[in-house]
Amino acid sequence: MHFKIAALATAALAGSALAQSGNSITDLIGSNSDLSTLAALLTNGTFGNFSSITTTLSNSTNGNWTIFAPSNSAFEGVQITNNTDLSSILSYHIVNGTHEASSFNSGANIVATNLTNSTYDMFPSGGVPVNVMVSGKNVAVYHGVDYANVTSADNSASNGVVHIINAVLMPPMSVNNTALQAKLDKFVNALNSTNSTDGINSKKGITIFAPNDDAFSSADLSKFNSSQLANILAYHVVEGLWFSSNLTNMTSPMNITTEAGSNLTIDASSASSVKLTDTSGNETAHIVKTDILTDNGVIHIIDTVLIPAVNASSVPTNSTNITNSQSGVGSLIYGNNDVSLVAVSLTVMSALFALML
Ligand SMILES: *[C@@H]1O[C@H](CO)[C@@H](O)[C@H](O)[C@H]1NC(C)=O
Ligand SMILES: *[C@@H]1O[C@H](CO)[C@@H](O)[C@H](O)[C@H]1NC(C)=O
Ligand SMILES: *[C@@H]1O[C@H](CO)[C@@H](O)[C@H](O)[C@H]1NC(C)=O
Ligand SMILES: *[C@@H]1O[C@H](CO)[C@@H](O)[C@H](O)[C@H]1NC(C)=O
Ligand SMILES: *[C@@H]1O[C@H](CO)[C@@H](O)[C@H](O)[C@H]1NC(C)=O
Ligand SMILES: *[C@@H]1O[C@H](CO)[C@@H](O)[C@H](O)[C@H]1NC(C)=O
Ligand SMILES: *[C@@H]1O[C@H](CO)[C@@H](O)[C@H](O)[C@H]1NC(C)=O
Ligand SMILES: *[C@@H]1O[C@H](CO)[C@@H](O)[C@H](O)[C@H]1NC(C)=O
Ligand SMILES: *[C@@H]1O[C@H](CO)[C@@H](O)[C@H](O)[C@H]1NC(C)=O
Ligand SMILES: *[C@@H]1O[C@H](CO)[C@@H](O)[C@H](O)[C@H]1NC(C)=O
Ligand SMILES: *[C@@H]1O[C@H](CO)[C@@H](O)[C@H](O)[C@H]1NC(C)=O
Ligand SMILES: *[C@@H]1O[C@H](CO)[C@@H](O)[C@H](O)[C@H]1NC(C)=O
Repeated sequence: MHFKIAALATAALAGSALAQSGNSITDLIGSNSDLSTLAALLTNGTFGNFSSITTTLSNSTNGNWTIFAPSNSAFEGVQITNNTDLSSILSYHIVNGTHEASSFNSGANIVATNLTNSTYDMFPSGGVPVNVMVSGKNVAVYHGVDYANVTSADNSASNGVVHIINAVLMPPMSVNNTALQAKLDKFVNALNSTNSTDGINSKKGITIFAPNDDAFSSADLSKFNSSQLANILAYHVVEGLWFSSNLTNMTSPMNITTEAGSNLTIDASSASSVKLTDTSGNETAHIVKTDILTDNGVIHIIDTVLIPAVNASSVPTNSTNITNSQSGVGSLIYGNNDVSLVAVSLTVMSALFALML
C-alpha cells in the first residue's frame, strides 16, 4: 500500500521531469527511492498544495537551492499538525544557493533557511536559521537541542544540491521550551517566578547566556528579592545575535549592553575558552555549550550566574527589558514538548491514504 503512494508520487514528479531536459532537484527527489515520502508530500493534492515549491525547484531559472531532504525513515513517527505547518516545515529544509558539504566550516555554521513566515520567524532578517555543525567527517543540522545527521551529502542537481538527513527539521521553539529541552530547569523556573518568560519569548534577535542547573545550585540568590532576580536574569540576555562564530578572534575583551541595562564583558581572545565577566568583576562564567537555536535567537549555556553589582543591595529593582510588562505574550507553536496541538502522524496519514486508493 505504501508502495502505491510512493509510486504515484514518483510518477507525478517524473512526469514533470520528462518535460525538462535537466536533472533538477525536483527530479532528483522524485527518483530517489529513499526520498519517496518527501516526494509524496511535495506532490500537489496529497497533503496540501506545495506546487510553488516543486515548481521553483524544477527549473534553474528560479535560482539554485540546497535541500536538506529527510529520508523515508526520518518521517516515521513525526507529528505534524496540518498542511499549513507542513509548508513552513518544508521551507525550513530549503536554503538559497548551492552549499556543498565542503563549503561549511568546521564547527557551527548558522545558515538562514527559506522559512520567513512571521509565525515562526522572530529573527530580525533572513529567515529562521539552521546550525550546520561540522565535526570531522560528520555533518549535523541542529534546529535547537535536536539535530539530524547528513547521511548522504552532495547529491548534485542542475539547480543545486540535496543533502539527505535522518530526521525532520522542526523550526526552533520559544526560549523557555528550548531551555527546558536543554535541561535548564532552574533557569526556566527563574524566568517563570520573575514573570520574565513571556518577555524573553517575545524578543526578536537575542543572545541568551543561560546558566545551567549547577550554576544556580552554587549561586547564593537568597539575598535577592524577586525584582532583583528579574534584573539578574535580564543581565544574561543581550540584544543581537552572537553566535559562536561571532565570538572568535576578538583581540580584546568587549563590553556589551544587556537587557538589564548594565554591561557585561566578553573575552573571546581564546576561542576554546570564552569568558564572561560582570562589570564589578566578581563573577566569571565560561560558555560550556554553544549555539542552541530558539525561534528568536540563540542560547549559550554558561557555568556561573552573573551578578550585575558587587553588593546585593545595589542590584536594581526597576523593571527590565524582559519582564512581562514590557512586551506582548509569546505563543507556543509546536514541537516535541509543546503538548497543546492535535497531532496527526504522517505515517498514519500515508497508510490511510493508501487504503483509500
Ligand atoms: C523554465 O522557466 C523558464 C522561464 O520561466 C521557461 O521559459 C522555461 O520553459 C522553463 N523550463 C521548463 C523545462 O519548464
Ligand atoms: C494543486 O492543487 C490545487 C487544489 O488543491 C489546485 O487548485 C491547483 O491547480 C493544483 N496545482 C497544480 C500545479 O497542479
Ligand atoms: C523561497 O522563498 C521565496 C520568497 O518567499 C520564494 O519566492 C521561493 O519560491 C522559495 N523557494 C522555494 C524553493 O520554495
Ligand atoms: C546556478 O548554479 C550554476 C552553476 O552551479 C550557475 O551557472 C548559475 O548561474 C546559477 N544560477 C543562479 C540563478 O544563481
Ligand atoms: C493549522 O495550524 C495553525 C497553527 O496551529 C492554525 O492557526 C491553523 O488554523 C490550522 N489550519 C487548519 C486548516 O487547520
Ligand atoms: C504562516 O504560518 C501560519 C501558521 O502556520 C499560517 O496560518 C499562515 O497562513 C502562514 N502564512 C503564510 C504566508 O504562509
Ligand atoms: C537568493 O540569492 C540570490 C543571490 O544571492 C538573491 O539574488 C535572491 O534574491 C535570493 N532569493 C531569496 C528568495 O532569498
Ligand atoms: C549522528 O552521527 C554521530 C557520529 O557518527 C553519531 O554519534 C550520532 O549518534 C548520530 N546521531 C543521529 C541522531 O543519527
Ligand atoms: C510560574 O509562576 C507562577 C507564579 O507566578 C506559578 O503559579 C506557576 O505554578 C509557575 N509555573 C511553573 C511551570 O513553574
Ligand atoms: C507575576 O505576575 C502575577 C500576575 O500578574 C503577579 O500576581 C505576581 O505578583 C508577579 N510576580 C512577580 C514576582 O512580579
Ligand atoms: C513557555 O512560555 C509560554 C508563554 O510564553 C507558556 O505558555 C508555556 O507554558 C511555557 N512552557 C513551559 C514548559 O513552561
Ligand atoms: C555575527 O556575525 C554575522 C556574520 O558575520 C554578522 O552578520 C552579525 O552582525 C554578527 N553579530 C554581531 C552581534 O555582531
